[in-house]
Amino acid sequence: MSENLPQNEPSIEDHTDEEVFQNYMEDLKLSPEDFDKRILDVGSGSSQFAKWARDHHVSSQIFSLEPKQEPQERTKSVQGKAEAIPFQSEVFDLVVSNASIPNIFLGESPETVKERVRSSLFELMRVTKPGGEIRLGRVLRGKVYESQEILASALDEAFAELRRDYGIEIEEIPYPAANTYEYVNHQPVKIAC
Ligand SMILES: C[S@@+](CC[C@H](N)C(=O)[O-])C[C@H]1O[C@@H](n2cnc3c(N)ncnc32)[C@H](O)[C@@H]1O
Repeated sequence: MSENLPQNEPSIEDHTDEEVFQNYMEDLKLSPEDFDKRILDVGSGSSQFAKWARDHHVSSQIFSLEPKQEPQERTKSVQGKAEAIPFQSEVFDLVVSNASIPNIFLGESPETVKERVRSSLFELMRVTKPGGEIRLGRVLRGKVYESQEILASALDEAFAELRRDYGIEIEEIPYPAANTYEYVNHQPVKIAC
């Protein structure tokens, strides 16, 4: 029997650029100093985070990676997937992904989820400079549905490997607004590279 995933979660596509920017700020606990950094946004949707920051002179150093977009040099929009990021190694100070990695792998077979979660995390780490950071927001950690359980286990396994075999520090970022509907079963995380 197919699962019934929640239908009434607010659609991210409906948010204005400013709302998306604010979500990133709150979910990922970004600070003004972070905007001095070279940032990559993975799974950037329509690049709203970078767009609002650029339009409001907050930063012009945010690159947006998205499989579905036309590349555009002026706006630093790049076409590509998290599992094969088209950048050289160690070029970003901060890599962010909000409501994207690893949630986008939801619904794949357990083996595929495991492989894609692992390869995307390694890719995010590859493009981050030593001493840099990865912040993942709205990471689905709930285990209400079978597909969520598969995703959560793949993530637990990948995090355990990073900690054990590579000594990577992974911290949970406190919920910005615990107990609101949007955050139930989600947990932002910070990975020190
Ligand atoms: C829920 S949207 C989040 C968009 C944006 N981060 C935001 O908060 O508004 C998830 C995005 O991830 C993108 N995506 C899907 N598969 C991807 C992949 N393999 N690598 C990177 N991004 C992917 C989707 O196209 C979509 O734009």
